[in-house]
Amino acid sequence: MPVLAWRPDCISQDGHEHKRLRGAVKDSLESFDRRAIRRHVHRRSHQLVDGFAGAGHVELVGRFAELLPMMVLTDLFGLPDDEGARLVEASRQLVKGTEKALEADRHIHEILGRLVVEKHRAPGPDLASWLIAHEANLDDEEVRQHLRLVLVLANETTTNLMVNTLRMVLTDPRFRGTLDGGRMTLQAAVEQILWDEPPLMVLPGRFPTHDMEIAGREVREGDLLLLCVAAGNVDPAIGRTAGEEMYGNRSHLAFNSGPHECPGQDIGRAVTGSGIETLLARLPDLRLAVPEDELTWTATSWSRRLDALPVRFTPRHARNPFAPPPAPRSDTVTATGVTAAGATAAGAAPASAGDTAPAPRQRPPRRWRRLVRPGDAAGPGRQHPTG
Ligand code: HEM
Repeated sequence: MPVLAWRPDCISQDGHEHKRLRGAVKDSLESFDRRAIRRHVHRRSHQLVDGFAGAGHVELVGRFAELLPMMVLTDLFGLPDDEGARLVEASRQLVKGTEKALEADRHIHEILGRLVVEKHRAPGPDLASWLIAHEANLDDEEVRQHLRLVLVLANETTTNLMVNTLRMVLTDPRFRGTLDGGRMTLQAAVEQILWDEPPLMVLPGRFPTHDMEIAGREVREGDLLLLCVAAGNVDPAIGRTAGEEMYGNRSHLAFNSGPHECPGQDIGRAVTGSGIETLLARLPDLRLAVPEDELTWTATSWSRRLDALPVRFTPRHARNPFAPPPAPRSDTVTATGVTAAGATAAGAAPASAGDTAPAPRQRPPRRWRRLVRPGDAAGPGRQHPTG
């Protein structure tokens, strides 16, 4: 199973090697400006909503939650838009461990291998270029492996978080009522989901390097350990019962903790929060189109995901009010993926209702200008400037 196999990436390492590799990923991820990422997510979300706003109904898993994280990731990676749809499918096959998993993994490596070659030739202010240039001196194989790690992990987890939060928003009176003007914010709703339905319920692949005892259990060298963080979130030792309201408390295990704690959690939260915020702002009377007890899930070894989340809403024909001026080509969303042309629009991210950043002015369409932290165009730990 590709998910369990050892790889030269930070998740498979400990000690000095882990520090070196994780440092490169963490520094590079931290080079992205968080407010700019949110603006970027708003723009991509509007693009997706534009694809179904006039219909009055849509299936949100396939048409929104499974597309948005990958669209944002392709931007952060510096990948062309049209790779997004194929990567969504390949990444899903990989995580599900289907008979197509190995082929999907090869496909992902192929795309990322090409990206590494391209970024050597023409570096930009994106994750791929920053990993290549980082002082930790990653070789090309390590760069490719870390791009793959981030791509697969971030896409799967962020999609799950988004699907689970959407379901709660649509069905749970605590959230629905409160989002309509009550006491719980969307951010608190996201944390509640991270407690109750962590996007990765089981963490794969820890192989002890010697015999040991963990919590009274004997574990042998080379055993496969599967860590169930979902169970950890309701461990009687912390005195919490399943479903208990946590009021935005972030001390859950959904992002793991310790040396391997997720370095992309802020990005995952930003994509989920800003994506759902935009969806609800555009379609405020969004409601489930089927009885809640008709919803079905499919589980993998690591998580479970709703098969579909059909919703209805009042059709809205007007294009989003924050749309940039028409691009030379239009963006199209299909049930199976995104064929986003108009890539030049990437340089003109819209403001949103909750986004106080000044509206972008007409400038050359260089999306990196809005993704890089101000004054940090080269990112930290860089050997040479990339932009
Ligand atoms: C809501 C979404 C997310 C959740 C729930 C999540 C969860 C996790 C968890 C549980 C781990 C630890 C895995 C382990 O120890 O086996 C992890 C590690 C990691 N995550 Fe996330 N993640 C999310 C989003 C992201 C995003 C958006 C990125 C990057 C853009 C990212 C990058 C990483 C990386 C690079 C690691 C490996 C860290 C290491 O081993 O030192 N994650 N994530």
